[in-house]
Amino acid sequence: MAGIIVIGSVARDEILRMAEPLRTGSHLNGTLCGYRLGGGGANTAIALAAAGHRVTLVAAVGQDAAGEALLAELVAAGVETEHVARVPRPTTRSLILVDPTGERTVVNVARCEEEEPPRRLLDLPADAIYVRSRRRELAPLLAARAATTLVVAHVPPVEPRCRPAQVLVASRSDLTPAQAADPLGLGNEVAGQGLCWMVVTDGAAGARAVSATQSLTAAAQLVQTVDTTGAGDAFAAGLVHGLVSHLPMSDALALGARFGTEATLWRTSALPAEAVRRILSQWEESGRSCAPRRNGC
Ligand SMILES: Nc1ncnc2c1ncn2[C@@H]1O[C@H](COP(=O)(O)OP(=O)(O)O)[C@@H](O)[C@H]1O
Ligand SMILES: [Mg+2]
Repeated sequence: MAGIIVIGSVARDEILRMAEPLRTGSHLNGTLCGYRLGGGGANTAIALAAAGHRVTLVAAVGQDAAGEALLAELVAAGVETEHVARVPRPTTRSLILVDPTGERTVVNVARCEEEEPPRRLLDLPADAIYVRSRRRELAPLLAARAATTLVVAHVPPVEPRCRPAQVLVASRSDLTPAQAADPLGLGNEVAGQGLCWMVVTDGAAGARAVSATQSLTAAAQLVQTVDTTGAGDAFAAGLVHGLVSHLPMSDALALGARFGTEATLWRTSALPAEAVRRILSQWEESGRSCAPRRNGC
């Protein structure tokens, strides 16, 4: 079990299932399917807690009923919420459009953040920190932590040196063709010195990790997706679990891809605990966890 800090959003997702593909300028049919807990920080934190880690979420929710309800769900999922700030703004909300193939489009309609970057990050004990936030002002805090702690950060943002980290993760769908063609170049620019791995996820095509000397790939399983929301967040949980368990990057990447694919099979934003436990017990049965190795950069 590791102590992991997750920095990222907690959101109230409203789900709209589309009867037909999205087409700009058209008149479409869909069904509103209610609300559920989501947000990149919450999704990854829940899956890591289900994997047996002590997970502290650093986030913000409003002082409203939605914030209250989301916090209660996080606590029930085993996530430590002591460092989730309550701020006088509406809780983060997203509209999630799920097309008939299960692919999602996210529309952020309210974003709840603390005014100042969370300096408490400097004092919290952790074996690893996962960052899923677009706040650029986190850079000095992450630089301080990355000197002694494993930092895995999602991009964007992509400004130079805005994400000091040993491992960066990006979704291909968020990158320009030029960035996708040279992920390590992008990673070195965004992380500055100290980057070991740049990981790029690519939906049904799986994921790859590149370092100065290696290029690894992990295929995704062929599945009938029902809702791809949170696939990247689940991937991050599998990857971070692998890294804090001292698996080599090839295995951590494969575990991330496995978590990500599983997330596409559930009509939830966060991967359910039962799914996480099943994947990890299958992983152990297949013997892939038996060779712990230091994850040298
Ligand atoms: N359609 C899919 N089929 C199988 N696996 C998928 C699919 N979409 C996502 N995944 C898995 O989830 C991971 C993350 O998904 P991706 O779509 O790249 O991230 P994001 O959710 O950030 O868009 C992928 O690397 C893959 O392992
Ligand atoms: Mg995707």
